Amino acid sequence: MSTTITVIPGDGIGPDIIDATIKILDKAGCDFTYEFAKAGQTALDATGELLPQETLDAISRNKATLKGPLTTPSGEGFTSVNVTLRKKFDLYANLRPVKSFKGTQSRYENIDIITIRENTEGMYSGIGQTTSEEGDQARAISQITRKGCERILRFAFDLAEREGRKKITVVHKANILKTTSGLFLKIAREIAADYPKIECNEMIVDAVCMRLVMNPEDFDMIVTTNLFGDIISDLCAGLVGGLGMAPGANIGDDSAIFEAVHGSAPDIAGQNLANPTSVILAAIQMLDYLDMPKPARRIRAALEDAIASGDRTTRDLGGTHGTTDFTQAVIDRL
Ligand code: NAI
Ligand code: MG
Repeated sequence: MSTTITVIPGDGIGPDIIDATIKILDKAGCDFTYEFAKAGQTALDATGELLPQETLDAISRNKATLKGPLTTPSGEGFTSVNVTLRKKFDLYANLRPVKSFKGTQSRYENIDIITIRENTEGMYSGIGQTTSEEGDQARAISQITRKGCERILRFAFDLAEREGRKKITVVHKANILKTTSGLFLKIAREIAADYPKIECNEMIVDAVCMRLVMNPEDFDMIVTTNLFGDIISDLCAGLVGGLGMAPGANIGDDSAIFEAVHGSAPDIAGQNLANPTSVILAAIQMLDYLDMPKPARRIRAALEDAIASGDRTTRDLGGTHGTTDFTQAVIDRL
């Protein structure tokens, strides 16, 4: 039976890389029906709304959503569409894996790190954002809850068990942020006690950044709060060749949205220059989530081989080709 998924092509390079990914999913024999929906600038232009109700309905209706990057017009008072989606569907776990690919110009070879970022609380909770009348003072509240910590930590340890991972690093700053980071760390210790087979270590976020650059091979899984996770996961993307190589899954109890971590890249939009790898990797995450491991493995192997052999690769991978040529290189291997 065909599975229906929601597809949001998005803005800028989004439509090109989403189109590439759908061609690959179809070639790999995935039996998907695609329900297309609009969000971001494209939706604003067409409907007057950044996130139309129809799109929200489509996301609710289907088990998974594959999403291209979205442009939120800045300086016009709009809240980020991505942040709104994460909140609306309570997508509390942001799963960002990075893995070394042979054939990229990255400095490292054996990186295989999953960052689990709490996606709804902390500095991004949006609570109490005020600027004083004179404009010389600003405030924002970082809110952490027991429920929010417990569910993200359980998610991380459960995933570690399922994937046969050995070690989780709990990243915090409890020495300074005694209340918020302190609560996260306290709950991490409680949850870790339920998973004796998984080695759990604690590290302060600044030390983690240094270690990630010096000895990234030491890391297996990382679990952390929202702001730290946002920053660390981009750092991790840099370890494997940049934003073009990093996918992200936003997972809640009832919905899941899979995307590239990069943005809409307006500087190269509409020029057939974008590397579709991040969205292809996001689609692989989606296949795993939907319990379709076979096409997930096939697509990964085809992608790895195309990159390793430098076949029709895009400029960011050191090649000279465009999105469509590279997509064909992957399809030719399926
Ligand atoms: P960006 O990630 O779009 O681009 C940064 C740089 O990386 C650019 O030079 C771009 O050409 C390059 N790049 C990004 N993806 C690439 C790919 N697949 N292949 C080759 N090169 C690639 O970040 P920027 O320019 O700061 O943001 C542009 C827009 O994207 C903004 O409106 C921002 O709000 C939005 N954005 C959306 C996100 C999402 O929907 N998840 C995430 C981050 C930004
Ligand atoms: Mg980010």
